Amino acid sequence: MAQRSRILTGDTPTGVLHLGHYVGSIENRLRLQDEYDCYFLLANMHAFTTRADQPDQIRADTIEIVKDWLACGIDPDRSTIVLQTEVPAIAELSWYFAMLLPFNRVMRNPTLKTEIDAKGLGDTYPFGFPMYSVGQCADILAFRPEWVPVGQDQVAHIEMTREVARRFDQIYCGVDSKTEDEDFERAGGVFPIPKAMVGRVGRLVGTDGKQKMSKSLNNAIFLSDPPNVVKKKVGQIYTGRQSMTEAGDIDNALFQWVRAFIRDEERVKELEDRYSRGDNIGDGHVKAEIADAINTLLDPIRTRRARYDTPGGEDVVIDVIRSGTRRANEIAEQTLYMAKSAMGLDFGRRTLSGP
Ligand code: TRP
Repeated sequence: MAQRSRILTGDTPTGVLHLGHYVGSIENRLRLQDEYDCYFLLANMHAFTTRADQPDQIRADTIEIVKDWLACGIDPDRSTIVLQTEVPAIAELSWYFAMLLPFNRVMRNPTLKTEIDAKGLGDTYPFGFPMYSVGQCADILAFRPEWVPVGQDQVAHIEMTREVARRFDQIYCGVDSKTEDEDFERAGGVFPIPKAMVGRVGRLVGTDGKQKMSKSLNNAIFLSDPPNVVKKKVGQIYTGRQSMTEAGDIDNALFQWVRAFIRDEERVKELEDRYSRGDNIGDGHVKAEIADAINTLLDPIRTRRARYDTPGGEDVVIDVIRSGTRRANEIAEQTLYMAKSAMGLDFGRRTLSGP
């Protein structure tokens, strides 16, 4: 059998996952599990960049994310779940990649800048905070994937990853600067130039109707929210519309949600048509339909999640993490060996031993 191309993506354990993660990336992951060799990374090292003083919480959040993944249908028999802090090759590659990126280039990364603003980090963030974006290049390239399924906010990181991969291949593998992105491996490069794959809804607006859905902005619906909480939160979406007969704006937050969650195209068209004409349709009615659609989506996820929210659930999760990470280390170690050999650092191949 021909080797399947690889996919790598991941989440930082900052809490349970929300609907923005689902439509931005999880949907794509589920769809691609059969076609690709998939690696899903728990970026627990990155969680320490803003919460170094909360190790217990980071550990708990890491377990919760795996429960969310399994509940969504990520299947550990087909896909590999990877714990970042148990893959030493990632930490090592981060160092080498840090040499290939000018300091100013890292600090210009728009996703970092947005995060510094949104989280109010001012100029007090640790050195490790901008370093995480270099680390993310290593997360990805350690697996030499073809695709990286992510939400729109991560595209700037993938762009930096592509720059690092090109530079590495050009400096250490003699790849010609005129080589097309698709041809880097064929031209002798260690790293392929990975591509971002943005989901159906790359940026889901939060229940505040303004900002991107995000746990820290308090505008998120979580995959683990029960039905009545979903209803209540959808009810909070603010549009400013006054009556059932006022012509509505179908680009408002409410209708972004209609298109994100109501999967019957005909019904979406009908709602858009009546709303834009102010044809006797209230925001409350639209919200009720959205909440129903979301609850239909989340119901099977809730059922599966309940299996892991049991006393033995955490042990199952830890087993999944350990066996996935063992598989992941095989490929990451192979990549590291290839990279170090290209850099003249081939002083004998090592093996990792562990559980
Ligand atoms: N930075 C990503 C986020 O906060 C998580 C992440 C870490 C990631 N490493 C990655 C995503 C590698 C894709 C690929 O959501």
